[in-house]
This record gives sequence, C-alpha cells and structure tokens, in this order.
Amino acid sequence: MNQSLQTLVNEAIGRFRQAKTLSELDGAKAAYLGKKGKISELFGLLKSMSSEEKKEFGLELNSAKGVINSGLKDAKERIEFTQIQKKLNAQSIDVTLPGRGHDKGAIHPLTQSRREIEKIFSLMGFEIASGPEIENDWFNFTALNNPKDHPARSMQDTFYLEDLDNNGDNYLLRTHTSPVQVRFASCNKPPFRVISPGKTYRVDSDATHSPMFHQIEGLWLDRNVTFRDLKGLYIDFLKVYFDNTEINVRFRPSYFPFTEPSAEVDLMFSKGQLSGKWLEVAGAGMVHPKVISNFKLDPNEFRGFAFGMGLERLTMLKYGIGDLRLFFENDLRFLEQFKC
Ligand code: PHE
Repeated sequence: MNQSLQTLVNEAIGRFRQAKTLSELDGAKAAYLGKKGKISELFGLLKSMSSEEKKEFGLELNSAKGVINSGLKDAKERIEFTQIQKKLNAQSIDVTLPGRGHDKGAIHPLTQSRREIEKIFSLMGFEIASGPEIENDWFNFTALNNPKDHPARSMQDTFYLEDLDNNGDNYLLRTHTSPVQVRFASCNKPPFRVISPGKTYRVDSDATHSPMFHQIEGLWLDRNVTFRDLKGLYIDFLKVYFDNTEINVRFRPSYFPFTEPSAEVDLMFSKGQLSGKWLEVAGAGMVHPKVISNFKLDPNEFRGFAFGMGLERLTMLKYGIGDLRLFFENDLRFLEQFKC
C-alpha cells in the first residue's frame, strides 16, 4: 500500500478508536466510506486511469477499505460492549441484601369462622346447602309467610333488580339465608338437618352493619322436633364455638313471620371484657305451619325449627373485634393477625 493511502487508513482507524458513541462512529465512518468520504473519492479516480494503473490502485484501495472496515467493526464492538457494561453497572444487583422471603398467607377470619361453624354442625349431623344470592320475591318473602304489603317486610329493606326478563318476578338481593330453607325443603324429604352459610344484603351501613354480610341458616325438620331440641342444640353449638362452657344463653321472645314461637338468642360471657352484657347472636323459632305448607309438606306430619345467625357478629364476639368494616377493608395489619 502506498504511503499516503497507509496514512489515510491510520487516520481513519485513529478516529474510530476515539469515537465514544455509535453516532460519533457513524460520523467518522461517513468521512471515509460515505458517498463523499475520502476512500470513495479515491475510488472515483479509477475512472481516469489506464487499465494497468487501475488494476494496481484498485487492489490497494480494496485492501485499504478492508482494513478500514475491520477497524470500524472493532470500534463498534468496543462501543457496544462499553454501553452494555454501563447499563449492567447501573442495574447491578446487590447480592448482599437480605432476601424478601415468602410470607405465609392467612385465611380470612370470616372464612375461618364459617369453616369452624360448618365443622361443629357437621358433627351434629347437619349437611351443608347453598342457594342463590339473587332471589325472587317468593323465596325471600312470600313463601316465608311474609306476604306483600306486610309491615314485617320493612324490617329487611334490600336492593331490588329490574325485571329484565319481564316475567313479573321481582328479583332482589336476598335479605337473609332463610330462602334456602324453602329451596332445600322443597326438594328434600324430611327428616333432615341442614345449615346454609352465605352472603346476604340489606340497606344498612355503619360500624356494626354492612350492606353485604353473611348469615348461616339452620333447619331441622322431622316428625317430633321440639323447641327443647332447638335450645339444647344451639346452646351446645355456642359452647363449642366459643370454646367456653360457662356462657349464659337466653331465648328472648321475638317475632319472625316464618317461625312461631320465635326467639332472639342472646348470650352473656361470665368472664372477660364483654362479660355482664347480653349479646344478640341469632334469630330462631319453630317453623310456622304455613311455611311447612309452602314447602309442599303436611304441617300435621312434619315440624321443626330454624335459626339464622350473623357470621360477622359471631366472629367479632369470638375475637373481640369492635368494627365490622375491618372484615372488608383488607388491611393486611388486620388480616395478618389471623395467621395460624
Ligand atoms: N332470617 C332471620 C333474619 O335474618 C333470622 C331467622 C332465621 C329467624 C330462622 C328465625 C329463623 O333476621
């Protein structure tokens, strides 16, 4: 290669080596290999040369171009490598940091409580049933001896849905789990014992009421079930659930359209923060003969009792929780206390 060509090559490689970024390198490349670059200009000279000169100079030019190209490739690799290196340094992982760990989750306190209640009633021979949360008027009210326009309906104000299929049915979010009594008893022949846990809805919202809450319904139908059976069974349940044989339980006369006689079940702890106060935990009573007829059963042949309890209430009393809204806020500081 002649002297001046060699100088040009060295100059090009020198500039490539100095380039710090790919765009600087592009600039340098254009200065030699671009359309108006120095090497391209030299190629332009070939036209005016004799074929002898052309051959010799062409060879030299091509080998110069090859050297420049390989210098360019080296420079490009160097720049890319440095850039990756920089990026990796910026993102570096500090392997000396302590690990984040995998915390064990917790079962929601209402779920824990529901499972516990299901277990106790299963041991007492009850099966578990469920029903829809969107009910119609018949199952939620009418079949339960709560006729249209009866003032007792206002005890349970709820959310009504539009009659979308226009069949005259009033759909609503069920106000209690009692409709499951009707559904279950209409397709199962007594004797049976059943509980039914699930979501219920009412227009109510404060520290002790939520528009959505949970109830657990119970129904025992047979030929000779009495109020005594209801008392014995429910008191036993409360003692097992609260793991406390010293609680006092009373059945206070009350009114429900679907039971007669009806009672409100109250309990009183003899020790602890809540002791000395009667606390309401359930509604109960003997299933009203009209309701038994609505089950399509003969009230002279079958009788039984029913009860309905608030799951939130029972859970609050068990764990000493003062505000029902804590169950639905999903604050981990609350939920993590129920890890077991
Ligand atoms: N369904 C009643 C309520 O929600 C509770 C209840 C159930 C009362 C069964 C008596 C018998 O208030």
